[in-house]
Amino acid sequence: PQNHSILVRGPVLHFLADPGEGDDPACWQYFEDGALLIENGLIRRCGTWDAVLRDLPNTTRYTARLFDYHGKLIMPGLIDTHVHYPQMRVMGAFGRQLLDWLNEHTFPAEESFADPRVADATASFFLDRLLANGTTTASVYGTVHAHSVDAFFRAAQARKLRMLCGKVMMDRNCPTGLRDTAATSLEDCSALIERWHGKDRLRYSVTPRFAITSTPEQLQVAGELFRSRPDMHLQTHLSENLDEIRFVQQLFPDSKGYLDVYDRFGMLGRGAIYGHGIHMSEAERARMAETESAIAFCPTSNRFLGSGLFDYPASTAAGVKVGLASDVGGGTSLSLLRTLGAAYEVGQSLGQVLSPWRAWYLATLGGAKALALEDRIGNFAEGKEADFVVLSLQSPAELQFRAEYTTRIDERLFALMALGDDRSVHATHVLGECVHKALS
Ligand code: GUN
Ligand code: ZN
Repeated sequence: PQNHSILVRGPVLHFLADPGEGDDPACWQYFEDGALLIENGLIRRCGTWDAVLRDLPNTTRYTARLFDYHGKLIMPGLIDTHVHYPQMRVMGAFGRQLLDWLNEHTFPAEESFADPRVADATASFFLDRLLANGTTTASVYGTVHAHSVDAFFRAAQARKLRMLCGKVMMDRNCPTGLRDTAATSLEDCSALIERWHGKDRLRYSVTPRFAITSTPEQLQVAGELFRSRPDMHLQTHLSENLDEIRFVQQLFPDSKGYLDVYDRFGMLGRGAIYGHGIHMSEAERARMAETESAIAFCPTSNRFLGSGLFDYPASTAAGVKVGLASDVGGGTSLSLLRTLGAAYEVGQSLGQVLSPWRAWYLATLGGAKALALEDRIGNFAEGKEADFVVLSLQSPAELQFRAEYTTRIDERLFALMALGDDRSVHATHVLGECVHKALS
């Protein structure tokens, strides 16, 4: 290709820092007539259309490809910090709380991944749906089968996506067909890391399911793999459900608490992200902050499985990094717009306010920081990868109707998270290129 420059014009919003509970405009940049200049898939400039055009070399001005998104809203690609791609088929399955739900719905669904063709078909469907929802990066669980991760990474690589994934490690308290061992999980993970970690935009995430389904020997392996490279990631579940917490305490009677189980095996640190973290002590939050570990906030899942209400302000006040997550199939939507709506409602139930500023920070730069990927994605700073979503206030019709009664950008940002979903995703771009476009 002769020309790698892309110009994008339209309202642009991105974040520079966490607005917290305030609305300090130093935390974001909003350009009503804004522009992105993209070269070789990376952000070169972000600013007003006039400023970006003024500084443009003539050769670029006349040869750049232009995407005109006036009347829409351009934001960094959304980041789903915790999602299970093999669970697409159990979304919306009726039934009770976490441990029963795992046994009745989730484990049988994951057993079907013994067939690699199921993994291939699901990976493609899942990634296409992520892009249709404006999500360009995710931290993804495979199944216990190593080929589930090969299938996922192949599909992600073909789409040029920045993605994290890992093979689930579990060697007890689950169906025998879904069990590995400490030794075989070490072997499989090592081979997957060799094959995929750092290839194109892909990174490996060491993925012990949770303390209930791993022996101490396997958690030992997980901690060692996590610490084997400085850019390694780790994901697991933590303090989601009260019955789960009691079971963990029975299995690890010597531990000081749930987080301490993981801590003892060296599983905390930058790049480690823990799903849920609902029922946590202040000492546990302090320990997470100290180790730069992060929590994935999964509001639709937490409500669907009746797990509890995550205290987002308490976590950030303690200095814990937090990202937003769908947690499909416990979650009820891949849409991070809907997930933000649910996060807002969780805050309401706790007497807290999630401002639209902070919400959209959470879905973009907050997620990048929680995944230790903020040097690559999360906003439109120069040099970052040009993944972005183009949101429309014209769909669904209820959002359009509401939007006609708004004038300010913060009102529109809030309407998008309260009423929007995949129908509000006008287009999705990866490394500058359009990879999804709404029909209307
Ligand atoms: N805890 C352990 N496994 C899972 C899972 O698949 N989903 C959720 N929501 N929690 C879990
Ligand atoms: Zn999960």
